[in-house]
Amino acid sequence: MTDVAAIRKQLDSHGQSHLLGFYDQLDVSQQAALVEQIEGIDFDQLDELISDYILKRPQLQIGERIEPAPVVSARSSGPVEIEGARRRGRELIAAGKVAAFVVAGGQGTRLGYKGPKGCLEATPVAHKSLFQVFAEQIFATGRGVGGSIPWYVMTSPENDTAVRAFFRAHHYFGLPEQDVFFLVQGTMPAISFNGKVLLESKDQLALSPNGHGGCISALHSSGALDDMASRDVELISYFHVDNPLVRCIDPLFLGLHDLQAAQMSAKSLPKRDPFEPLGNLCLVDGKVTVIEYSDMPQEVATGTTEDGHLHFSAGSIGVHVLSRSFVQQLTADDRRRCLPYHRADKCVPFVDERGEVINPAEPNAVKLEMFVFDALPLADKTVLLETERSEEFSPIKNTSGQDSLPTSLHDQIRRAATWLEAAGVSVPRDADGQAAAAIEISPLFASTPEQLAQKIDREMVIATGDSVYLGERGQVGGNR
Ligand code: UD1
Repeated sequence: MTDVAAIRKQLDSHGQSHLLGFYDQLDVSQQAALVEQIEGIDFDQLDELISDYILKRPQLQIGERIEPAPVVSARSSGPVEIEGARRRGRELIAAGKVAAFVVAGGQGTRLGYKGPKGCLEATPVAHKSLFQVFAEQIFATGRGVGGSIPWYVMTSPENDTAVRAFFRAHHYFGLPEQDVFFLVQGTMPAISFNGKVLLESKDQLALSPNGHGGCISALHSSGALDDMASRDVELISYFHVDNPLVRCIDPLFLGLHDLQAAQMSAKSLPKRDPFEPLGNLCLVDGKVTVIEYSDMPQEVATGTTEDGHLHFSAGSIGVHVLSRSFVQQLTADDRRRCLPYHRADKCVPFVDERGEVINPAEPNAVKLEMFVFDALPLADKTVLLETERSEEFSPIKNTSGQDSLPTSLHDQIRRAATWLEAAGVSVPRDADGQAAAAIEISPLFASTPEQLAQKIDREMVIATGDSVYLGERGQVGGNR
């Protein structure tokens, strides 16, 4: 039995009694759902957050000493070191020590796509969903070592049912069902500028996902960490859902992380300009830290070296390796909040005290989110690996312009054409030097240029205007 009187008393003491303002108008199931949401909130912690982040605007502290972070790259490191790290990474994968982890709980507001972003059709010829692109890579990597790699998929309460249904409908894209583990991230209520939790409707709080940093506690509370331990997984290969070029499991990155006994590592690439919306990998007071693009002081972002390069050029692409032991350490104390929150002022529709839905035109509330990269400064040791944009990064974030579906499709074709040419296949080019055919290489055929070079038929002919798909069993389409 729900003790509503006790909940009312608790809400009163935290200045949130309006949350039960319409309780008596609700039917029994609505009442139960509302009470469940309220019981999910730690009001003592919320009071602290309201006082620290809402009633006063937190002053961004970016430390005394900001320096560019040291990055390693395949170019700057010797071939022996790189080959050794790659070999170590392959050994770890073959020994079953690695899991893939995608964070897919975001709302994808900028893209305006209805539905979970991972379901978006994102490839140029076969029109595969992002989830399928990742699944095929993970499947192919597992098959390459004669095993199967577990894949942890973080959803949010908003998209969890749809994501699971999508995987089921696609038969887990060929992965063993028991090797796909869904975990649901936590939520935070939207809070008005005067510290009141907002109601989205009379029977629901205005809740939204608590940021990708919520993955740290979700890995613990969902049992995913225990599941990893039972499988003897030691390293978590973390990536965002929006980048079809991502290397979900990269032996080099994993090997470098392991050989240097790192706890959390990050991949970077040189930003295309000072204002590219990427987090900046910096050293703040000697600790590797990401300063979000929106927080980077302009004079720091635009500063250049004597030879004209950006002083702070290392952008984060949202790809990390986390040691399982590090995540366990961060979550050892259930009640301690391990990552800070970030404040974002948003327009949040809400129900006012008369029960009317208000759709504000101006920001009226604060959403609080945690960012996973805030765990970097908590790590004793971090490896920052610089990668090549053309090989590994072309995210789909916006409806048009940079980082949109059209730019990503273009970049996928460009990468496929480069791999084919490197393997000795000629690709038609237009007057601007762009590939004049649509080409897609399934990870089931090849996940790297080296694998492609081993398998490809060099006599293959691609004509201008062709649509060529290299699938599991080789070429489909083209040569019309
Ligand atoms: C993010 C990073 C930025 C990095 C860039 C690389 C932040 C604040 N910034 O930017 O430093 O350079 O990616 O592409 O993250 N997600 C959840 N739950 C949430 C919120 C997000 O799972 O509550 C997931 C999304 O589904 C997505 C990923 O996190 O997979 C990134 O989120 P998004 O909001 O798209 O980040 P960006 O602002 O693009």
